[in-house]
This record gives sequence, C-alpha cells and structure tokens, in this order.
Amino acid sequence: MKHFRVALLANLKQNAPKFVGMAEDQWDDLDSEKTVNALVEAIRAGGHICEFFEGNLSLYQLLPAFKPDICFNICESHFGDAREAQVPSLLEMMRIPYTGSKVLTLALALDKPMTKRVIAFHDLPTPEFQTFERINETLSPEMRFPLFVKPSREGTGMGVSRNSIVYNEDEMRDQICTILDKYKEPALVERYIEGREVTVGFVGNLLGPVAQRIPDDENARRIQAGLHFLPPMEVDLAPFSDSDTVYSNRLKVDLADQLTYLCPAPITDEQKDEMKWLAAAVFRVTGALDVSRVDFRLDVHNNYKPYILEINPLPGLAPGISDLVIEAAGEGIGHTELVNMILDSALKRYSMI
Ligand SMILES: Nc1ncnc2c1ncn2[C@@H]1O[C@H](COP(=O)(O)OP(=O)(O)O)[C@@H](O)[C@H]1O
Ligand SMILES: [Mg+2]
Repeated sequence: MKHFRVALLANLKQNAPKFVGMAEDQWDDLDSEKTVNALVEAIRAGGHICEFFEGNLSLYQLLPAFKPDICFNICESHFGDAREAQVPSLLEMMRIPYTGSKVLTLALALDKPMTKRVIAFHDLPTPEFQTFERINETLSPEMRFPLFVKPSREGTGMGVSRNSIVYNEDEMRDQICTILDKYKEPALVERYIEGREVTVGFVGNLLGPVAQRIPDDENARRIQAGLHFLPPMEVDLAPFSDSDTVYSNRLKVDLADQLTYLCPAPITDEQKDEMKWLAAAVFRVTGALDVSRVDFRLDVHNNYKPYILEINPLPGLAPGISDLVIEAAGEGIGHTELVNMILDSALKRYSMI
C-alpha cells in the first residue's frame, strides 16, 4: 500500500468570524475540533501522513510548505454564494489534487434552486418550487398550500423549523421575510411533502457514460456501477410529531442525541432500489465525485413516492453523529474505514493508486 501526505482541510466552528447581526445558527454547518481530530486520526490510521489546515487564504503559503500529495477537503467556508467552491478553486490554481466534488458541483449543490432546475431538466422527482428574492413577488398559481419555506443556500437545517411549513399566503410572506432578513439570500418555497424522511449515502464514482441527459431507456437510466451504497437511513420524526415534523435545525443540532435513526430504513426493496438509482442519478447530473448523501421525503399522500430534496456533496463526517457515519455503521463500516474509502476513491480517480 502506498502512503501519501494528506492535508486535511476544514473550517473549525471556533475559528469562524463573528459579526454584528449574524444569525444564531450562522456557523452550524462548520466542524468541531473533535471531528477534525477524528478525521486526522482516521487518515493516519490508513497509513498516511496527515495534518490539519484551516481552509482559508493561508493555504496559499502553508500548503507548499507541507507539500501534500492530496488534500482531504471538507471546507464549507464562510461567505459568498459559492463558498463551498472557494478552497477547491484555490487548490486547482495551485494544482493540488483533492477529495470530493469539484468547483462547479460544490457551487451548484450549495444553491438548492439551481440544483433543482438541473434535477427537473432530467425529469427526476423534486418538489415543485419557486424562489423569492423580494418579499413582494407574486406567488405562482400552480403552487398549492401547504408550502415549505427555507433558505436557498444553507445546510444543517439552518432556517428550517416547524414555522417553515406554511398554510396560507400571510404565513408564507412572514417566513420569506424572516429568511431574507436573517440569511440575506433568496427564499426557496417548495410544495410541502408530508411523509417520511430518508437519506441515502454512498462512496465512489460512476463508471460509464455519465455526462448526458438521463435517457428514457430504463436500463440506461439506472446506472449505479462504481458506487458503494450505504444502507439508507430513516430519521424517525414520530416522537417529535407535536413539535418538529421536519428535520429541523433544532433536531439536527440541539436534540441530535435524542433522535432515533432507523438504519437500514424500514422500506421495501423496491423503494430502496428506486432511491438508490435516483441518488445515483442526482450524483451523475450534478457531476459529483467520491462521496455524497441525497436527502429524500417519501410522500404520504402519493404511495410514499420519493422526492429529492437535495444532494450533499460534502456530507458531515462527525463520528457517531453525522448521517453518513451512522449509515456506514449500519453496514459495519467504522469511521476510519469510511474516511479511507472516500480518500481511496479520490486517489483512484487521480490514478494515484
Ligand atoms: N419540500 C419539503 N417538504 C417537506 N419537508 C421539507 C421540504 N424541504 C425540506 N424539508 C425538511 O427540512 C429538512 C432540511 O431541508 P434540506 O433541504 O434537506 O436542507 P438542509 O441542507 O438544511 O439539510 C429536510 O430534511 C426535511 O425534513
Ligand atoms: Mg438535508
């Protein structure tokens, strides 16, 4: 086995800038020291030399000194509408390989409406939607209540609470106002999918022709070779049915230790197959690499049909906490192995192993 010099690039919550008027959940998607240490240890356990570097402009000086063969990138960055693509852009300018999706995909996936346009172009199921950049825009007559209002470019349930479900135009405008005010970015209004919450994670890269419109031919649609699927996981929201019927910021951050994760999710083989190929399809049309997690809701009013909510090309890797890590555990894959699977996938892609 070859041993590489690996720079782990992440943004620590404790290093994040503070500013007047910032939202209280502003940096909830950044990483803890515990996660970063666990990742460094996992990569070292894989036989590599590994050091952590904060993902900012200092990389321009620090990386040439460390001379990494590859970077393990999980940077979310701080500001800007394509912030998750910023560190990868720098790495490309410096011509250093890195794990995970590249600039275009990271910028795209951070923007939920733009991603939904791509998904819809390929006739993949995602809830009908409209974006609001200003409060006084007209609601399209096709949009029927109840609707769901969330920020366009956040993660970790930021801006998502029970108030995100709106039953009339007044409630919707209130919620849009809150999002515009708090996050200074467009609000995404979607059809509310009442149902179960299932997420599908996987590692690897697709083999075969992928840069094409998803064809109508069933066999060609269902390309999955090259991906290692972890068992789908259901987040059991039933115990919170009085307070949180959605996977809110409160549940993801404050009550994470009280959640019940059903992994493997109690779904039929047919549902599982359907979600796997849909997840592979989203991965394919967004040009993602090495690892992703695709979030679904199964519509209770439509025979539990899966709807794609989003793709996370930088899924959380906090040991014992993050969805992807729990899914891996469901298959007996520990944190160290999962992290090294992602690294190996990138090393293979660059023909380094
Ligand atoms: N259209 C929708 N209908 C029902 N619930 C939704 C909808 N969109 C989001 N949610 C709920 O909000 C949660 C967070 O939304 P998601 O788009 O996955 O953003 P995040 O990046 O914060 O995970 C979802 O897991 C789901 O519980
Ligand atoms: Mg999500």
